Amino acid sequence: MRFLSRKKLKSVRKLKKTLLIGVFFLLNYGEAMEISIETNSKDRNEAGVLVVPCFDEDGVVTSSSQLYDFSSSLNFVLDLGDFKAKEKETCLFYSRDFLENRVLFLGLGVKSKLSKESLRRSVASAISSVLSKKITKVNFCSFKHDKFAEEEIVSLIAESALLTSYAFNHYKTKKDAQKASLESFTILASHAFTKEIKQVEKIVDAVNFARDLVNRNADDVTPKVLAEEAEKLDKQFSKVTTTTYDRKAFQKLGFGLLDAVSKSSPVEPYFIVVSYKGNPKDEDHTVLVGKGITYDTGGLSLKPTASMETMKCDMGGAAAVLGTVKALASLDYPINVTALVAATENSIGANSYKIGDVYTGYSGTTVEIKNTDAEGRLVLADALSYAEKNLKPSRMIDLATLTGAALVALGDWKSAFFSNNEEFAKEFFAAGERSGERVWRMPLDPDYKELISSKIADIKNSGSREGSLPFSAMFLQEFVGDVPWVHVDIAGPAFLDTPRDYNRSQATGCGIRLLFDYLTNLKTGI
Ligand code: BES
Ligand code: MN
Ligand code: ZN
Repeated sequence: MRFLSRKKLKSVRKLKKTLLIGVFFLLNYGEAMEISIETNSKDRNEAGVLVVPCFDEDGVVTSSSQLYDFSSSLNFVLDLGDFKAKEKETCLFYSRDFLENRVLFLGLGVKSKLSKESLRRSVASAISSVLSKKITKVNFCSFKHDKFAEEEIVSLIAESALLTSYAFNHYKTKKDAQKASLESFTILASHAFTKEIKQVEKIVDAVNFARDLVNRNADDVTPKVLAEEAEKLDKQFSKVTTTTYDRKAFQKLGFGLLDAVSKSSPVEPYFIVVSYKGNPKDEDHTVLVGKGITYDTGGLSLKPTASMETMKCDMGGAAAVLGTVKALASLDYPINVTALVAATENSIGANSYKIGDVYTGYSGTTVEIKNTDAEGRLVLADALSYAEKNLKPSRMIDLATLTGAALVALGDWKSAFFSNNEEFAKEFFAAGERSGERVWRMPLDPDYKELISSKIADIKNSGSREGSLPFSAMFLQEFVGDVPWVHVDIAGPAFLDTPRDYNRSQATGCGIRLLFDYLTNLKTGI
């Protein structure tokens, strides 16, 4: 009863709140969601659950919340042996002593071992658990930790909660079967952390934008739609300029490899250039290239049915580079980035490009086609050599769902990456560790060069199974000249069969948090 009257009072107070940073954003297909920080916990919003992070400190379970003394409830649960505060462990109990009526103890593991990613994963576990009960309003206690500033902790909590809350229900017609997402999420913390929350929101907004693009039907997300999304960025942000080239236009440029792959495409292919000048006075300029195969049938080297089932994800690289520009531009981040997308369907038909034929790329390099399913490297090749010759890049990063071999090698936990530059590779790896979008370096040494040699052309696009992962990178390297370059094969993490941590099944939006982290932490200028 005590709380009923407080609830009424709250709605009046809510209007007056100055620290509420309620920001509504509508995802393409998602629900509206409000995220806020509450510095006065007594004043907090109504919610269906209060999440209380707990640690294992030298074998003693503690709650780090400054909000209440939870020790009596916690000891009760601990005495029953129901909770050890292991990473991702949750324990729900009901109590009228709290506004929310439900309290979820959340294990964060051994306190001294807390890492950014372990925190993200534990938060995801709490959010998945409450969403599975269709609880959509959450209050979450922040905490202090000597390894991390509170702003970092708050950012990580918000990031993981927002990522986990993504639900793609576009093709689920029955309301009951639809996945729930958060309606409101309030972090109870000591400061408002306005800037941090805004940054997290914009990044996750971009990730969800990419997830939607990948999750929607391949028949709906055509190269034209990717071009339109790129145009929207131009309209939305004054520092973004988009240029799109249709088939005729890129043929005129000399994109013989993109042209070959797109010969049988039933939909118009596009080469898309999105330039973001966040710091026009600076010469420094990163080029991002995304593979934009909106559906990969394999072409004449047709894929078997099971392998084709996930091939709407083959524009995951394109979605990631567009999403990265969206995040940077919406935060007005002071760096210069150009995103290039080579977009087409790799279809099968009477006009398909042919196995055994030779095609000439933008750089003049001739390529013998051994396998029309090795199409990604062809379209990337034209984009990379276009950038190398025309855009004066300080560095280039390409993202592509390029090979099944990357998926076989590393599973869907990590992306494989290659680089022609040691410093770049080091910093890129570090960005992977920080962002939780982890990458593992693969070799790119001259020994592998013979793999790509062709009897009838300069190089060939595919060889035997052995070494097929380094093959793909050796091939791309032919088109980057001396520019410091990283190639990321996201074939594994871009698309999940089953949900994991803050990713639900299917599209993950992989690459955006990695690129954002790398680009905003550039140290050595590489
Ligand atoms: N898009 C596929 C790679 C892929 C496989 C992405 C699984 C995501 C999940 C790519 O175009 C492809 O077909 N690669 C071939 C290359 C081979 C023919 C050299 C592959 O990996 O089998
Ligand atoms: Mn393919
Ligand atoms: Zn492909």
